Amino acid sequence: MSLLLNRSVFGNPENAGNVLSKEEATQLLNDWVKNERLQLHMKQVAHLMKSWAAEQEGLDEAGQWRWEMAGLLHDADWDQWPEQHCKKIIEELEARNIDPEIIRAIASHGPNHFGIEPETKMDKMLFAFDELSGLIHAYSLMRPEGYAGMELKGVKKRLKEKSFAANVNREEIADAMNRAGVELDVIIAFIIEKQAR
Ligand SMILES: [Fe+2]
Repeated sequence: MSLLLNRSVFGNPENAGNVLSKEEATQLLNDWVKNERLQLHMKQVAHLMKSWAAEQEGLDEAGQWRWEMAGLLHDADWDQWPEQHCKKIIEELEARNIDPEIIRAIASHGPNHFGIEPETKMDKMLFAFDELSGLIHAYSLMRPEGYAGMELKGVKKRLKEKSFAANVNREEIADAMNRAGVELDVIIAFIIEKQAR
């Protein structure tokens, strides 16, 4: 099974600035994703993207929503069409005339799987947040106190344990941090703070 997208252009430049409303995006998420854990993952990544866009990139509300929307829908086709991940959601957003930058961010969230290189900061942060978010959430579930009192060093210890969240590829995490140009510690601390809400 190959997930390679084998294409380089996403969406139509004439659609720049076109987004789904929050209601439309949530409807799509609910229609396509029945798995509650996957929905939670996508909502967590969406919240991280929105928060980073606001606090670190200084984007206005419209800009924040573009980042949030990419996070909210990046795995939308994984639940029902895993063999078509992430081709299906890309084609859906293209059919809905969505901004090409949002579509491209989704297309590049797994460069080692889909063969599309993250280019913009939005692309790179989506890739960076994706797997670390899940690993940190898995860690919160095994702690009796959840996120309360969670520390950076605890997360880093889990990262070194190959058996913990074994499906999360440590090399990919390192690769994502390099591409984003953000220190691993900074991203982990940011995720702990935002996911603990
Ligand atoms: Fe994901």
